[in-house]
Order: sequence, then structure tokens, then C-alpha cells
Amino acid sequence: MKIGIIGQGYVGLTISAFAAEFFDVVGFDSNQKIVDQLNLGHSHIEGVESALLEKLIKSGRYRASSQGRDIQDCDIIVIAVPTPLTSERNPDLTYIEAACKTIGENVSKPILIINESTSFPGTLRSFIKPTIERYSSAKLEHLYAISPERVDPGRTDFNQKNTPRLYAGLTTEASERTREFYSKFCDSLTEVSSPEVAEAAKLFENTFRQVNIALVNEFAQIAHALGINVYETLEAANTKPYGFMKFTPSAGVGGHCIPVDPTYLAAVAEEHGAPATFIRRANEVNLDMSMYIVNRVVADNGGNLQGKNVLVVGVAYKPNVADVRETAAELVIEHLRNQGAVVSWHDDLVSTWKGESSSPLQGADIAVVVTKHDSLDDKKILASAPYVFDTTGKVKGSKGL
Ligand SMILES: NC(=O)c1ccc[n+]([C@@H]2O[C@H](COP(=O)([O-])OP(=O)(O)OC[C@H]3O[C@@H](n4cnc5c(N)ncnc54)[C@H](O)[C@@H]3O)[C@@H](O)[C@H]2O)c1
Repeated sequence: MKIGIIGQGYVGLTISAFAAEFFDVVGFDSNQKIVDQLNLGHSHIEGVESALLEKLIKSGRYRASSQGRDIQDCDIIVIAVPTPLTSERNPDLTYIEAACKTIGENVSKPILIINESTSFPGTLRSFIKPTIERYSSAKLEHLYAISPERVDPGRTDFNQKNTPRLYAGLTTEASERTREFYSKFCDSLTEVSSPEVAEAAKLFENTFRQVNIALVNEFAQIAHALGINVYETLEAANTKPYGFMKFTPSAGVGGHCIPVDPTYLAAVAEEHGAPATFIRRANEVNLDMSMYIVNRVVADNGGNLQGKNVLVVGVAYKPNVADVRETAAELVIEHLRNQGAVVSWHDDLVSTWKGESSSPLQGADIAVVVTKHDSLDDKKILASAPYVFDTTGKVKGSKGL
């Protein structure tokens, strides 16, 4: 069996690495630079070691390509391309459309097409299938299924093998073949009654996180106003063995999923006349956290940051990854600069970002910790500036939420 995986980013390359243990895999990506690097055995994704990639290439079970003809004779194609928001913060399916075009124009026989990209309910049935059919010159009866991806980049305790997967096909045959494919490298598979349920479940999982993070971020502000330690209070609440799940406050949410997926749910809800009040409000609360943090820093520093050297520590969106997509650090830096601060940033894992380079962890007037990688030493952070504001709750001896 030959598997084509469209998109060789966090999701697609991870799936490729697992699938290549059992199948011949073509990792298709429209970015030639990524394709060239992958074919040299250089992985750009945490969790997929370059050594593993090299081994798979040498064994002939994996290669990357940007040529449509290389997916022509695949038996299964998995779609794993970005699903961002437009500049008006609406769902942007242009990458999915481009992937459908590649499939439609190149695949020459009826196959199974599985979507792993996150999108709103109805995407597989009402967008992916008709778009592929529109771009196909031959009338091919493909099978279509969805299996939303749940990978958490940088996480080592849960991976493709032990993270349970949902799936559903448009037909029984599509469901059966999807199960057969994933059961090779995933221990737990749950079939749901329709692709729409699987699509909605994925969005709801991330909306649940967005809303609870917003709640704890609001609670951090309440606790501070009341003079109560938020972390001690959360630990205290967490001694309840049921009905409570601990979330921790932060400078906001980042990454490709939590700040984006809930908006897909809100958009489709509103299109159907259903309220999405919680979802919209949660997004606002999380976005406003950056301003709240900067206001706290300003208040602690005589009401003015004019000309102060401020070092933002950690610009990756979460610890131990180099991913800066939708990072909360961006708004924190913007608000600090609006206050007249001279801002630089330090990140052990991100060397350059937005045309700027990581600065040394030293010599600042003020340090604001947005993301703390495990490799970062508390003492070094505390020594980097006379005033340190920590938004992570991990730097002992600093100011913080
Ligand atoms: N990153 C995560 O943690 C995560 C987790 C679960 C679900 N998802 C979802 O999975 C999907 C993919 O996310 P990702 O994080 O892997 O994205 P990514 O940006 O890391 O990778 C996407 C890759 O697709 C390529 N690409 C874009 N358009 C293409 C096209 N038309 N043809 C071929 N390649 C194309 C890009 O060059 C890039 O390498 C998204 O829908 C995302 O919401 C991501």
C-alpha cells in the first residue's frame, strides 16, 4: 500500500513517521525547501527525530515530494494542511482547497481520502468531496473519511500510538478502511456515527480548553484584586477528587489550535443562528491577558516604562517547543512597546522571529517571562533584571500573576 500525506508539518510529518513503519509513504508538501530538507533526513518537527527520518529514507519507505505525479498511484491520501483564520478572523479553507486540487488533478484511481485538518462540521461532506470531484477530470468514486488529529507537539507521554482517535467515513466502507489503516499504528480507535460528529468533537475539545483557560485567567485577576495567591487557591481546589480540572493562568493562548479552532465553531454556530457567546468572550479574555500583564508591570514600575529595557523571556507559544504561531508573546511585546519600553526577547529554542534575533538573558531593567522552557534556569532568569514578572507561575522568587 502506498500512502500520500499532504502537508509535512507538525501533523503530517508525525503521521508520516508512524505510517512509514508499515506502508510506503510519500510526504507531499508545497514548500520545496521543506521537501529538500526532509529528503536530506532533516526533521523540522519536535517529536520526529532526524535519525528516524534518515532510517525511513534509507529503507525506501519514506520520501518527500512537491510533485503531484508522486501521489498519482497512492491507495490512501491523508490531508494535513493548515486551517487558519482569514484577516477578518473567519475560517480559511484555501489550503484545504489547494490540497483537494492536488488530489483531484493527480490521483488516477478510486482511493480512500482521509482528512486530519481541523475544520467545522460539514467540511468533509460539503467541501472536500465536491472540491476534489470538481478538480478531477475522470469520474472517480473515492471513499472519504475524517479522523481529526490530536497530536500535542513536544509531548512525550501521548503520541500517535496511545492517543485515542475518532473516525467516521461518509460510507461504511470508508469507515472500515479508515479503521484498518490507523489500527496499524494507533491502539484505540472510536468510530462515531458521522464525519460531522468527529469534526465537531475536535472543535469542542479545543473550545473546552480555550474557555477554561479564559476562566482561570479571569480568576487570576480576581485573586490578585482580593490579595489571594492564585496558584495556592488552584492547588487547594484541585484537592477535590471529582468535578474539577486544574487549568493555570498565562499570558494568553497560542499555537495553531486553541486560539483558532474555537473561532471555527463560533463561525459555524452563528451561521446557523446558534449563540457562541462563551466562545467569543473566552477569546477576548485570553487576548486581553497580555494588556492586563503589561498594566501590572507598569503599575509595579512607577507607572511608566518609557525608555526601560524590557526583556521578554520565552516567545514560543508553549514550553519546550520552537513554535511561535499565535504566541501570546506577540501582544505582550506590542503593549510593552506602546508603553515606550525598549523591548528585546530571549528564547533558547527560537533563534530568530519576526526579523529579530534572540537576545542574551541578561542586562535588562525588567524581565517578563511569557514561556519557560525546562532548560531555562530560574536563577539565570532572576539575575537577568532587577524586576522579573513571571506569567507562568514557575519562577520562584519573582513577581507574578
Ligand atoms: N499542530 C498541532 O498541534 C495540531 C494538532 C491537531 C490538529 N492540527 C491541525 O492539523 C492541520 C495541520 O496543522 P499543522 O500544525 O501540521 O500545520 P503546519 O503549518 O505545521 O504544516 C502544514 C504543512 O502543510 C504544507 N502545505 C500547505 N498547503 C499545502 C498544500 N496545498 N499542499 C501541500 N502542502 C501544503 C505547509 O507547507 C506545511 O509544511 C491544521 O488543520 C491544524 O489545525 C494541528
